Amino acid sequence: MTMRALIAGRGPEWVLDEVDVPTPGPGEVLVRNHAAATNNADLPMLAEADSTTGGHGREFIAGFEYAGEIVAVGEHAGRWAVGDAVMGSVPASFAEYVVVDHRFVLPRPEGLSSESACALPTGLLTEHGALTVAGFTAGQDVLITGATSGIGVIGVQMAKALGASSVIATTRRSAGRGRLLGLGADTVVVTGEEDLTDAVLDATNGRGVDVVLDHVAGQTFAECLPATAEDGHVVNIGRLAGAASTIDLDALSYRHLTVHGVSFGFTRDTEMSGIIAGLLPDVLPAVARGEIRPVIDRTLDITDPAHVADRLRSGEAVGKIVLTIAQGESREKKEKKND
Ligand SMILES: NC(=O)c1ccc[n+]([C@@H]2O[C@H](COP(=O)([O-])OP(=O)(O)OC[C@H]3O[C@@H](n4cnc5c(N)ncnc54)[C@H](OP(=O)(O)O)[C@@H]3O)[C@@H](O)[C@H]2O)c1
Repeated sequence: MTMRALIAGRGPEWVLDEVDVPTPGPGEVLVRNHAAATNNADLPMLAEADSTTGGHGREFIAGFEYAGEIVAVGEHAGRWAVGDAVMGSVPASFAEYVVVDHRFVLPRPEGLSSESACALPTGLLTEHGALTVAGFTAGQDVLITGATSGIGVIGVQMAKALGASSVIATTRRSAGRGRLLGLGADTVVVTGEEDLTDAVLDATNGRGVDVVLDHVAGQTFAECLPATAEDGHVVNIGRLAGAASTIDLDALSYRHLTVHGVSFGFTRDTEMSGIIAGLLPDVLPAVARGEIRPVIDRTLDITDPAHVADRLRSGEAVGKIVLTIAQGESREKKEKKND
């Protein structure tokens, strides 16, 4: 049986093609995927595979996030059963079917459509993982840089839903202010218009925040250190402004700060189950209550990959672009009809 998928490695664009439906092995489940969401890594990976511009030319199915229901279960695949509504993050999600290690599947909260759910897993897993390494507890103040990013918007809502005393969110554009306040941010700092360190200290009576979730890096990372309270934790999650930063080690040492780096994509299998399990008691119920909602820029169909890539390249997308994947006709079915 074949399925439709978006293939990278055949030039500058994703190519819609028919490929074999994967078979779930021991410990795996097969998910009929109804919707997939874009990520920051999608375009760089497409460009790196483009052999017409010197890329490696190895073909692969693009995408990372999916939502749908389980249609087949391999041996020893835990508690999952055919028909379970699920969502998650796995490579090769721009396709009608995905095979997933049963330990890394998330239940899709009741009432949450696949179109909404697919825009959540990377944000939920990354932001919750970051809050966890920072030792976040209710009542603390949190700074989130690059807060309008696809995962940053989840971080803002999650910190509030988990009881942050205040959330300070940054954007480079004043147009982002209303959106971030609407998501629950208590203070929005428009970088470029305001000094980040001063604005955070003003908002926290000079104390600084307990936890920083930094998606921007570059000099923004350096500016976060003197904006962090004594014994606070600074977690670098993304490097939107570049991976290099010149920091003042006095700001780090005198405040007894702890700096962490997290990368969901490089999570070891042995750690993943703990990260998934961490979402179940508090975060997924907050999603079910509507306290953490996906932010969706627009919804396009998998048959329209050029528009998806163009919208990503524009840099104007706010939140995720969702690819809907209606049940297609496999090549075999079409061939049978034409016989
Ligand atoms: N550690 C992990 O596990 C993990 C997982 C997923 C993603 N990430 C990383 O997290 C970051 C965000 O990912 P995403 O997919 O959510 O991003 P995204 O949705 O593509 O973020 C886009 C937004 O980021 C802001 N931005 C873009 N360039 C910037 C710059 N040079 N300086 C400051 N802000 C900038 C812009 O918001 P404004 O115009 O409003 O400022 C823009 O609208 C990326 O660096 C990504 O690689 C890390």
